[in-house]
Amino acid sequence: MNVTKTGRVADRGQSLQTHGWQSLGEVTSHHVEDVTLVLDCGASKVRISLERNDIIRVRLAPGGQFKRDHSWAVVPNGIKKPSFGVEEYDEYLELVTPQLRVRIDRSPCRISFFADDESRIAGDDPQKGMCWDGGEIRAYQSLHADDHFFGMGEKHPPLDKRNQTYVNWNHDAAEHEQYSDPLYQTHPFVIVLNRGTAHGIFFDNTHRSSFDFGQTSRTAWSFGADAGELNYYFIPGPKPTDVIHRYASLVGTTPLPPLWALGYQQCRWSYDSAKRVASIAREFRKRKIPCDAIYIDIDYMDGFRSFTWDPKRFGQHEKLLKSLKKDGFKTVVILDPGIKAEPGYKIYDSGIKGDHFLHGEDGTIYVGKVWPGQSVYPDFTRQQTRQWWGDLYKDLLASGVTGIWNDMNEPADFSHNNPDAGDMYADAEGTIPLGVRFDNDGQRTDHREAHNVYGMQMARSTYDGMRRLRPAERPFVLTRAGYSGVQRHAAVWTGDNASTWDQLRMSVPMLLNMSVSGVIFCGADIGGFRSYPTPELYTRWLQLGIFYPLCRSHTAGGKEQDPFSFGKKHEKINRTVIKLRYALLPYIYTEMQHASTSGEPLLRPLFLDYPKMPRVHKIDHEFMFGRQLLVAPVLWETAKNRKFMLPPGQWYGFHDGKPHTGGEEIDIPVNIETIPMFARAGAIIPTRAAAQFVDGKPLTELTLNIFPGIGRGHFYNDDGLSYGFEKGEFLRDEYETSTQEDSTTFRLARRTGSDTFAPGSYVLKFNGIQQAPREVTLKGQMLKPWSAAAAKSKKSAARGSKGSSAKGWCYDKKSRSVHVQLSELRPGDTVELHHKPRSPRS
Ligand code: GLC
Repeated sequence: MNVTKTGRVADRGQSLQTHGWQSLGEVTSHHVEDVTLVLDCGASKVRISLERNDIIRVRLAPGGQFKRDHSWAVVPNGIKKPSFGVEEYDEYLELVTPQLRVRIDRSPCRISFFADDESRIAGDDPQKGMCWDGGEIRAYQSLHADDHFFGMGEKHPPLDKRNQTYVNWNHDAAEHEQYSDPLYQTHPFVIVLNRGTAHGIFFDNTHRSSFDFGQTSRTAWSFGADAGELNYYFIPGPKPTDVIHRYASLVGTTPLPPLWALGYQQCRWSYDSAKRVASIAREFRKRKIPCDAIYIDIDYMDGFRSFTWDPKRFGQHEKLLKSLKKDGFKTVVILDPGIKAEPGYKIYDSGIKGDHFLHGEDGTIYVGKVWPGQSVYPDFTRQQTRQWWGDLYKDLLASGVTGIWNDMNEPADFSHNNPDAGDMYADAEGTIPLGVRFDNDGQRTDHREAHNVYGMQMARSTYDGMRRLRPAERPFVLTRAGYSGVQRHAAVWTGDNASTWDQLRMSVPMLLNMSVSGVIFCGADIGGFRSYPTPELYTRWLQLGIFYPLCRSHTAGGKEQDPFSFGKKHEKINRTVIKLRYALLPYIYTEMQHASTSGEPLLRPLFLDYPKMPRVHKIDHEFMFGRQLLVAPVLWETAKNRKFMLPPGQWYGFHDGKPHTGGEEIDIPVNIETIPMFARAGAIIPTRAAAQFVDGKPLTELTLNIFPGIGRGHFYNDDGLSYGFEKGEFLRDEYETSTQEDSTTFRLARRTGSDTFAPGSYVLKFNGIQQAPREVTLKGQMLKPWSAAAAKSKKSAARGSKGSSAKGWCYDKKSRSVHVQLSELRPGDTVELHHKPRSPRS
């Protein structure tokens, strides 16, 4: 620590009064404690520290007493906090890091963040700054005309949160409409983008909180909570992806899921008997519609008792699970936290014995009401209870269940949501009463503080339990409720949406904001959960849903909602759509692997890649899918055309290789089969032949879809299931391509990992090639041209035998593409298309 004294410390210090609220007064003294700058402002104290990765943490204790420093979101990393310098001036202090300067005005105490070039990035609103009123706390930050706000997790549209207000209080939003708030999750994290420069704020407070992005003030935006600590992190950019990387270092990333979990998943409330589940599975295989997972909703249980099976309808569930497995299906079952309060029921009894259930204010076990009727709730904020819950999965996993779906974990409680009936707990709004007590990892608290982390801690118990019980396999857990960091334990879906065009459209900005808030493995119920879609709406939803990282159809009620429930014509289209998802799996898996290490999402709002182009920031209904593809889904009923904005640069139709110049609005005709997808210039996108499910077998052939321009692409592969990748059992290839006047080049630039996971053979598909090349070479050696038909038969020969020497190329005039067939690719291997005769030297 380096403290430079260049000024005088002010000696007065009273808090300022603002409308019943108090805001911080003068800095009366300051000192450095370990690696934290502590400011005394009269009776109040502020602690400022430099966290990992140049993140600044600010904590306020209005009465001067800080409580236990504990977070459910921030992952401890054991790295000692970096040190910083403090410079003192008459009017202010400066905390100096290699990247930032944090200026603390002395009178009154106001904090601002400056880049090392002295430009002010963000900071307290000069009038209000940090305030409190009793237990309530609020921070006001200056608002600029060019500020735009993204993130906040699962929130209603629009994408840009400017001028909106939001509340965080996880809610069983069963009837939610387009602008309902709050929903099921809490992510008090926001990316502020100002003329291309981004920074983030993470307000780590689990109480009911709210954000106001300039709706009530033109000069300040604010965040605050009913209680708890004013504890926030300032996360510098300058690029939005820098904020994402740093936030990921704080709250963790989505672990690499098993590959099958990225396949198509089918769900319904309910396939309510073993017979029905088996018949749905049969239909998928019979109709050759790819599908990896079947979900079994609450009706498999015996009277909604978690961890039981209905003895009649699912009497032979092990046989069912075995036969599903044989046919390539993975089974995901639902588990709710509400445990039937019934002596004699094993789970209830063992929960009572271990003191695992929540108690009310009067000390008795709290009894609420969920699906099984009178129910009790495990205290997932208690370590022993998390362990107990995780271990309960033993029998389910042993019987052949693959994945776990955790629902109703806001937690939902049906007993207290009727204020009209004079309900004394009506303030509970569909959840358990606020006074219910929680262990809170050893520092007891009540529901007000624990509510927003209940779902996350349930998902954590489940995930940790699965890791203990089946250590060789990556778990798949899906949760409805969550708090920042939930992505470390589970995928998230957006709850009970409805089969309307509005809700189809709203899923895009919702999932994009979840994605930039760290919840990368996310999806909405395809087709809509409530009510029933028209064939057109279902098909359009599926055409969008294949780009949801979690690609799952789900519905409730009387009618079937499978890809084959909407007549022959739509079945055919739906099959093709799902097959596209399966063809893209190598790309999707590669991007998910990138997400698991970098925190960068698969669904990318345009501002992420084009931060300096305000024109694209407000686009709610387009996105980048991974780093290479732009998708402009058709989301309007009976649409005959789709207008959309292509960001600047050259783009190519993914399906037809047609060039489009970006930087302006494009209008294309569409029909019911159109999925507008565009590859960046120089994109290299790995795909494969669509399979019926993820079978764990080695990949026989990989197609690399190469688009004109200069660029790079990636391919990641491993066994798709185990943790072998942590021991080097994976392959990561990096490719490069460039287009010159006379030639087009492709190169395997780098390979890390093991050749074991290399595909059996390759097809290099060069798109946008207007004429057949004169020559095609591999490592400078001419490759033989084939006719398209011959290429096909060579291709099937190559498919059979890994390492076969099938090589050659052909030109497909219709698609204006060159297909180069190769048996293998080694680092440094270069393939060149020569568009003009080569000079004798080459
Ligand atoms: C909740 C879930 C829904 C599920 C239903 C029955 O409404 O959000 O997905 O099907 O409960 O378990």
